[in-house]
Amino acid sequence: MLGSRRLLVTGCGGFVGGAVAHEAGPGWETKALTRGPALLRRPNLEWRTLDILDERALAGVFEEAAPDAVIHCAAIADIDVCEREQDKAYDVNVGVTQTLARLCRTRGTRLVYVSTDTVFDGAKGGYLETDPPGPLNWYAETKVAAERIVSDMPQNWVVARTSLVMGLPLLTNGVSSIGRAMRILQNEGRLAVSPREIRSPIDVVTLARALLEIARAEFKGYIHLAGNDVLNRFEMTRRAAVKFGLPQDGVVPRDDNEVKVGAPRPLDVSLSNARARALLKTPMLGLEAGLELSLSTKKGVAS
Ligand SMILES: NC(=O)c1ccc[n+]([C@@H]2O[C@H](COP(=O)([O-])OP(=O)(O)OC[C@H]3O[C@@H](n4cnc5c(N)ncnc54)[C@H](OP(=O)(O)O)[C@@H]3O)[C@@H](O)[C@H]2O)c1
Repeated sequence: MLGSRRLLVTGCGGFVGGAVAHEAGPGWETKALTRGPALLRRPNLEWRTLDILDERALAGVFEEAAPDAVIHCAAIADIDVCEREQDKAYDVNVGVTQTLARLCRTRGTRLVYVSTDTVFDGAKGGYLETDPPGPLNWYAETKVAAERIVSDMPQNWVVARTSLVMGLPLLTNGVSSIGRAMRILQNEGRLAVSPREIRSPIDVVTLARALLEIARAEFKGYIHLAGNDVLNRFEMTRRAAVKFGLPQDGVVPRDDNEVKVGAPRPLDVSLSNARARALLKTPMLGLEAGLELSLSTKKGVAS
């Protein structure tokens, strides 16, 4: 029987952080950080409301929690918001990571930093952990800068780069990109999606379980968390529509030349999940199995 360990999770009002808080079982004493209200009452799970940009408040919570591990999910994750509000994005995405890395270093706490497939330039796809990043937008610049801070720690760190995350938020009615797409399809009967952007989507429950497994493990370095299917967004959305019981014919290919896009996006940032499959017990899934898992977990959420 594994002993209980102390865990701090940031960004728990968000899509990924909320799933981590939900999936952290009795093997963890979890403190969930958020700017908002507590979202799930359960033994071994405590919520702390704070502005994560307040360095002293963050250090105070860290000291009180005395965590064995931190899973750092909080970020401004919207590519276009980062492009428009570059200083704020830097403070949240890089500055907070810097503070957490310093705190973790002092205590010897394990830091699991959640990064993104978007650090790559998208020219080749199938990216390995050893491939060099090539950020195309400010969001990606901030994530690469934060990765470097974490990887400068002498020990006990992991940079977990995730692919596009699938499924619905477990703890809130907040947004996930597929949830938004399905709502539009349901309300308008038609949705145009780019066939050019290629991803290797992972469902949010598998991602949360993998992050928790990594928080308990001992290896350090980079790891790519991605599903087993590599496909373009158009195909992905059609297949998701079937799972959501919506008409897949309503999903049509978008002509990207006719649409005003915001910050530049990489084309093919599919990730190789070979290292994750070799190191982790948490199985990486294909698109349908991942959606199935996240939808059935969402149905079972006790709030
Ligand atoms: N979703 C994806 O497809 C995807 C793909 C690749 C990588 N990622 C990475 O995964 C992580 C989680 O992303 P997500 O999809 O869960 O995003 P999300 O739903 O937007 O959640 C991010 C959370 O970060 C916290 N946060 C955001 N802005 C903040 C601010 N100004 N001050 C303080 N806290 C702030 C918030 O937590 P509270 O509401 O609790 O305060 C927010 O809910 C991010 O690091 C992102 O880069 C996500």
